[in-house]
Amino acid sequence: MKPRTTARIKGIIERDRKVMFTTTRVPYPFVPYRAGADYAYDVSGNKFIDFSSFVSVYDIGDNAIAAMRVAAKKQIDRLIHAAFTDYYAELPVIFAEKLVNKFPKGFGRVFFSNSGTEANEAALKFSRLFTKRQYAMSFYNSFHGRTLGSLSLTASRNVHREHFGPFPNAIHAPYAYCYRCPFGEEYPGCGMACIDYIKKYPLSKEVSPGEISSIFIEPMQGEGGYILPPKEFVQGIREIASDNAIVLVADEVQSGYMRTGTFLAMDNFGVEADMYTMAKAIAGGLPMGATIARSSLGDIPAGSHANTFGGNLVAAAAANASLDYLNRNEARLKSGIKKRSAMIFKRLNDMKERYEIVGDVRGIGMMIGVELVRSKESKEPAVSESEEVLKNSFENGLILLPAGMSTIRIIPPLTISIKDLESGLDIFEDAVKAANSSAIR
Ligand SMILES: Cc1ncc(COP(=O)(O)O)c(C=O)c1O
Repeated sequence: MKPRTTARIKGIIERDRKVMFTTTRVPYPFVPYRAGADYAYDVSGNKFIDFSSFVSVYDIGDNAIAAMRVAAKKQIDRLIHAAFTDYYAELPVIFAEKLVNKFPKGFGRVFFSNSGTEANEAALKFSRLFTKRQYAMSFYNSFHGRTLGSLSLTASRNVHREHFGPFPNAIHAPYAYCYRCPFGEEYPGCGMACIDYIKKYPLSKEVSPGEISSIFIEPMQGEGGYILPPKEFVQGIREIASDNAIVLVADEVQSGYMRTGTFLAMDNFGVEADMYTMAKAIAGGLPMGATIARSSLGDIPAGSHANTFGGNLVAAAAANASLDYLNRNEARLKSGIKKRSAMIFKRLNDMKERYEIVGDVRGIGMMIGVELVRSKESKEPAVSESEEVLKNSFENGLILLPAGMSTIRIIPPLTISIKDLESGLDIFEDAVKAANSSAIR
C-alpha cells in the first residue's frame, strides 16, 4: 500500500517548523515511529523499505539492535551516567578494550564522546598536542562535522561555513573526485595529478608541511557526494603524512563499522591511519563518538580534554552488545555484504546503461552512491531531478538520502533481505526512470 501523508504527519511537521531551529531535513514528510528489520514505520503506520539505515546508524541489522536494546534496558535500571571522565567505570573500558582489537596492531588509546563531530574535535586537538603544530589539512567535498573545529575541516558546501568563520587554521586540498577531476584528467592515466598538486601548491605555497599537525581524510567521502578515490590517492596522502610526521586521521564516522565490507573502510586501501574517528553505528542509535589512536602517539595531559557524557553507561552497554554481535557474526556479515553489494552494483550499472540521467555509480561494499546528471556528456548535476527521485521513492515506500549536489546514497541495513533489496531497487528504478523522462524532455 502506498504511504499516505495524514493530518497527524502534517501537524507534527507544522509544529516542528514553529518551535525548532531549521536543520537539514529531507524533501519528504517522514516522521518515524518505529523501525524493525528492513523497514521503517511512521507515526501513521505507513511502512517503508529503508535504504538509509537512519543515516548509516542502524547498520548491522535487527538481531544486533535487539541485543543492544536488552543491554541498554538492563543498564538503565542499574545506572545511566557514571561521570566517566571524572570517575571510573568498567563498561566503557571493556568497550574500549574490545574496540582497539578491531584496529591495526599498535592502536591502544581511546577517547569517548557523543557524536562524530566531537570525535573529530578530539582528534584535531590531540594532534595539535602531540605535534605542537597549529595547522590541519582536509579536502574539498569533505564533511567532518559542524562544530567550529570540525567545521574548519568540512568543505563540502558554502552553506555549512557561511558567517561562521574565521576558523581555526585549516587548509583544504583537492580530493580525487575522478568523475569530476578538478584537473580535467582521467584515472588511471592522470599519474595522480591531485597528489602532485597538493605537494606543489597548498604544501609549498600556503603552509609548510612541518607546521601541519593532522590530515583528515574520509576514506570514501560521505555527505560531500559518496566519492570513492583510487587506492593510490589514499596511499599518496599516507606518504605525505609519513614524510612530514603529520598525524593522519581517518574519519570513519560514516564509512566504518562494516559499511564497506570491512570493519574500517581504510582497510580497502592497504594503508593505516594514525588516528581514527567513529560514531553513527557504533552504539546502534545511542549517542557515542570514539577517537582511537596509536599508542605511540602518547597520552594527553589531565584536564586538556574531557566531557560530561562521554562513555555514558547506557551507550557503552549498547556498544558492547553491538560489537559482541558483530564479532560473533563477522564472517557471515562479510559474505552477506559481498553478495548484496554485487547485486546492487549489477542493478545500478544496468540502470547506468539504460538511463541518460545516471552519470556515475561508485562505492565499496554497501556504501554506494548514484550521481545523477542532466546528460552524460555535460555532467550537469541533476539537482531538481534527484530531489524528484527522493520524493517519488518515498511516495512509493522507499526511504533514500541525498549526498553532494545530486548523488543518491544506497545504504540499506547490511543485513537487508534479498527480497526487500530487490523491491527497494525496483522502486528506485521507477523513480529514476520518471526523472530521466523529465530531465530529457
Ligand atoms: C564522515 C563524517 N564525519 C563526521 C560527521 C559528523 O557526525 P555527527 O553528525 O554525529 O556530529 C558525519 C555526519 O554525517 C560524517 O558523515
